[in-house]
Amino acid sequence: MARPPNPRTLPPALLLLMLVSLRLRADPLPTEGRLMNNCIQARRKCQVDPICSAAYHHLNSCTSSVSTPLPAQELLVPEECREAAQHLRNSSLMSCTCHRRMKNQVACLEVYWTVHLARSLGDFELDVSPYEDAVTRKPWKMDLSKLNMLKPDSDLCLKFAMLCTLNDKCDRLRKAYGEACSGSRCQRPTCLRQLRAFFEKASEPHSQGLLLCPCAPADQGCGQRRRNTIAPSCALPSGAPNCLELRRICISDPLCRSRLVDFQTHCHPLDILGTCATEHSRCLRAYMGLIGTAMTPNFVSNVNTSVALSCTCRGSGNLQDECEQLEESFSHNPCLMEAIAAKMRFHSQLFSQDWEDSTFPVMERQNKNPALRPQPWVSSLFFCTLPLILFLSLW
Ligand SMILES: *[C@@H]1O[C@H](CO)[C@@H](O)[C@H](O)[C@H]1NC(C)=O
Ligand SMILES: *[C@@H]1O[C@H](CO)[C@@H](O)[C@H](O)[C@H]1NC(C)=O
Repeated sequence: MARPPNPRTLPPALLLLMLVSLRLRADPLPTEGRLMNNCIQARRKCQVDPICSAAYHHLNSCTSSVSTPLPAQELLVPEECREAAQHLRNSSLMSCTCHRRMKNQVACLEVYWTVHLARSLGDFELDVSPYEDAVTRKPWKMDLSKLNMLKPDSDLCLKFAMLCTLNDKCDRLRKAYGEACSGSRCQRPTCLRQLRAFFEKASEPHSQGLLLCPCAPADQGCGQRRRNTIAPSCALPSGAPNCLELRRICISDPLCRSRLVDFQTHCHPLDILGTCATEHSRCLRAYMGLIGTAMTPNFVSNVNTSVALSCTCRGSGNLQDECEQLEESFSHNPCLMEAIAAKMRFHSQLFSQDWEDSTFPVMERQNKNPALRPQPWVSSLFFCTLPLILFLSLW
């Protein structure tokens, strides 16, 4: 796992790399086919080998017989399951992962957890995300020429909502969950499914802008809009369940369990200053991945950016500490808080630029017309300037 020692000191070589990678921005996103070792492919490979295949099937039957415990509890695994796990040692199944946007995601995650049960024999590492670790560094990309169409005096949450509306894909996905989650027709499972679809499929700048929009401290209307982004009245459980019970429900579902472990991996605070075990961008992605699961977090009020799970630790008995720890990994997590704050600063800087005077929208228009396209290097260097500035402001 790449853990940069100090993200603030960006070596020049990395800058150069980013410049070069920006030139390749027309490349399609890596798809599941290009994922290094996805669990569905690994399982296919395993099926060709009789020993591996038999061991996997055996282990699969173990998964259903071993009930999923709370993380603090010991996993009781029958001896023959341990043996089956041993046979998978050399298989590529041991290192396989899944992709957040892949087609058969749940099937892939099920394979991961079948094998991960084996991993847990001996060295149970709770915070090993089933998701591929590769972060595709792409420049912040949105059609900024559209900024001119926005009312200059609207709050930033409204502006980001309008940017989503102006983008066909974002608009379609947002309408879909808006409809499923609307008061009169609210069906929670459908609402949650559509919410997940939005955060999986809408482009990251759009979904992050919508959810992590900055509000002026006194602007309650803006804060309310932000808190309502995920349609909390339908998406969140009515009445606050116990947080440990919520986690039990989550862990019994391969998707929710994966998103939770992803969150624990990437939003793990290393100190009180907001340093994360990995990177802020990974933490935000993991945080947003939980929206639409049983453990959907949200802003707690209209006046600040504190977030929390929709649950309580009342009635946790002798598991009170464990419950509070879970609760605080959302509500008092310096890594998550700083990741959210940094993204909001970035979003407000975006709107404090004077795009009217910038040459950027002109360049963008020129780029769309091949006849006017300048020399490739000249164009890409100019074009790079803005995304690069936006990149750097993140650190
Ligand atoms: C795994 O590979 C090693 C060396 O490649 C070999 O010695 C060992 O027998 C293999 N184990 C299994 C269970 O296939
Ligand atoms: C945010 O507001 C809520 C409700 O008013 C409050 O309980 C919480 O402590 C506030 N968070 C911060 C960091 O001030």
